[in-house]
Amino acid sequence: MSNDTIGSIQGEALAALLHEHRHFSPSEAFAKSANAQPSIYEEAAQDPVAWWAKEAEHLKWEKRWDTTLEWDLPFAKWFVGGKLNAAVNCVDRHVEEGRGDKVAYYWVGEPEGEHRVITYRDLLAMVSQAAHALEELGVTAGERVAIYMPMIPEAVVAMLACARIGAPHSVVFGGFSSEALAGRIQDADARVIITADGQFRRGTALPLKPQVDAALETCPNVRSVLVVRRTGGEVNWVEGRDVWWHDLVDRQSTTHTPEAFDAEHPLYIMYTSGTTARPKGILHTTAGYLVHTATTHRYIFDLKPESDIFWTAADIGWVTGHSYIVYGPLVNGSTSVMYEGTPDAGGKDRWWKIVEEYKVSILYTAPTTIRTLMKWGESYPASHDLSSLRLLGSVGEPINPEAWMWYRKYIGRDNCPIVDTWWQTETGGIMITPLPGITSTKPGAAMRAFPGIDADVVDDHGDSVPNGAGGYLVIRKPWPGMLRGIWGDPERYRDTYWSRFPGMYFAGDGAKRDEDGDIWLLGRVDDVMNISGHRISTTEIEHALVGYPAVAEAAVVGASDPITGQAIVAFVTVKGEQAKSEEDGSQLVSDLRDHVATTIGPIAKPRQIILTPELPKTRSGKIMRRLLRDVAEHRELGDVTTLLDPTVVKMIDENLKAHPGTEE
Ligand code: WT7
Repeated sequence: MSNDTIGSIQGEALAALLHEHRHFSPSEAFAKSANAQPSIYEEAAQDPVAWWAKEAEHLKWEKRWDTTLEWDLPFAKWFVGGKLNAAVNCVDRHVEEGRGDKVAYYWVGEPEGEHRVITYRDLLAMVSQAAHALEELGVTAGERVAIYMPMIPEAVVAMLACARIGAPHSVVFGGFSSEALAGRIQDADARVIITADGQFRRGTALPLKPQVDAALETCPNVRSVLVVRRTGGEVNWVEGRDVWWHDLVDRQSTTHTPEAFDAEHPLYIMYTSGTTARPKGILHTTAGYLVHTATTHRYIFDLKPESDIFWTAADIGWVTGHSYIVYGPLVNGSTSVMYEGTPDAGGKDRWWKIVEEYKVSILYTAPTTIRTLMKWGESYPASHDLSSLRLLGSVGEPINPEAWMWYRKYIGRDNCPIVDTWWQTETGGIMITPLPGITSTKPGAAMRAFPGIDADVVDDHGDSVPNGAGGYLVIRKPWPGMLRGIWGDPERYRDTYWSRFPGMYFAGDGAKRDEDGDIWLLGRVDDVMNISGHRISTTEIEHALVGYPAVAEAAVVGASDPITGQAIVAFVTVKGEQAKSEEDGSQLVSDLRDHVATTIGPIAKPRQIILTPELPKTRSGKIMRRLLRDVAEHRELGDVTTLLDPTVVKMIDENLKAHPGTEE
């Protein structure tokens, strides 16, 4: 790495930089024309329910609601008595209101040169045809449809077609195994599956249909499989069950009369991992979810539908894709980029080529990706014109200040506000975030609750902590996009989210309120360690480690320890050629331990530091800390099917056994 980069401005220099820029003031350019004006917080706080009701006027209602909120803790109903159709709100109304020629998606295929431009008029025709096709397959309102697809336009069309006919979809990320898929199909009791023959990953066509075939061996209730041809080539075919998309969908009428559904009609189920091995089916319903996603999208990303090109670089197999590739942006009539592949497909500058070519103005992605891009170096973004970018977003995990500063400098050219957005599959949409043009930003802080959201940081007894203290993140009042339950398990819903602090939604995250009252997320509380009675955040130590010049990424876990309760174990990847030899390695380990001790304090010194070429990550890019904890405690490895690369774990485990000497 060259010396003039943030990538190497670390340690003391980074600390100095962060001190100097303890916060960035709201940008004047934004303040003038921002969708959100400073009075927004006060207006919403005065009467949050009325504020959300005002925002709900943006939707197209077949019948207006009677009661904005019915709250029977922990069960909420929003916009009771209202009737609407989600697909009409996403698509039809834009065509009806004269925006049919507006581009809904610039779709970019993984193979270079493959593009599709889909206008709202095109989307309406496609969704109408797919809705007819599902009806021909006997799908009726309320019946569940599973979607297991790559990032192709048909995936969005499939979701909207389900929504149009009132059939809740359950999208399963295309990287999940057949077993994981089967479990989800069974739990949701989906009767129809929409999939593709295969998907592209870094230039290779990988099969998808065989996973569906395998899954369906244990899913006898599934009657039809609708298959998009994406990669070509041979596929196994079950007559009477399997149907090609191009045979069935393409011959349908491009007009379809929508039906209006209740505001609380189930829109989708999305499975997410909990603390137990069994994933939870998070249920979202129609109106409240649409109001929440569209409102947050409009204010947080300052979305100007006439001029912005919005890009959420995520997969529709996750909630980020549902809320900010599909529903929020479409309700707002946005133009989005949808990209099929990985950031390095066709070269490590692939993203920047896309930003340049489509003049992307808003980019929303995850810290883990930012750190990867950082590791590759700034020459890739520097070789493209990124001047179209005006706002950057981050989501999915706490963003370390170093990555935040790098994102700001090398992608945002020091002139794009960064919104660090905290939320969850369960919350449906963004909950804690700065608002561009209004709130200051601080590298690493999500700052404050979105208007109309009542978030708090509380201690063990559920009492608010003062400024400068840490605790648990809770939400005190219902919000429109909140999960309506865990599919088929109301008790688990109550136990998981509403029992730790009576009357409050417990998110599972640790947080602190700084001296200014701004909120910092500290990671899941199962990642917060207790070392000799000291409470230490794994994230804080990770921040310290990645602040060291040679370190690319770090993951810290609390392993049980007979003396101190928990002990800190750090897994570290190094940049480039550093620490090639054994000797370099042990020198680096000892330097790192000292570095952590000087940055945070001796109590934060890791017991063990394990250097490794990769960290184990889920397919959504989250570091699997639980698994690292197992490795650190020499436990048997559990289920690793959701890992990006299962061999990484074995390798780490072997390193650990071979180098117990890194312990003090
Ligand atoms: C968990 C939820 C939100 C869509 C993608 C993840 C962590 C999420 C942030 C953030 C710190 C964050 C939390 C949360 N998280 N965003 N900006 N700062 N942590 O959805 O898979 O349901 O995960 O992701 O720990 O509980 P998810």
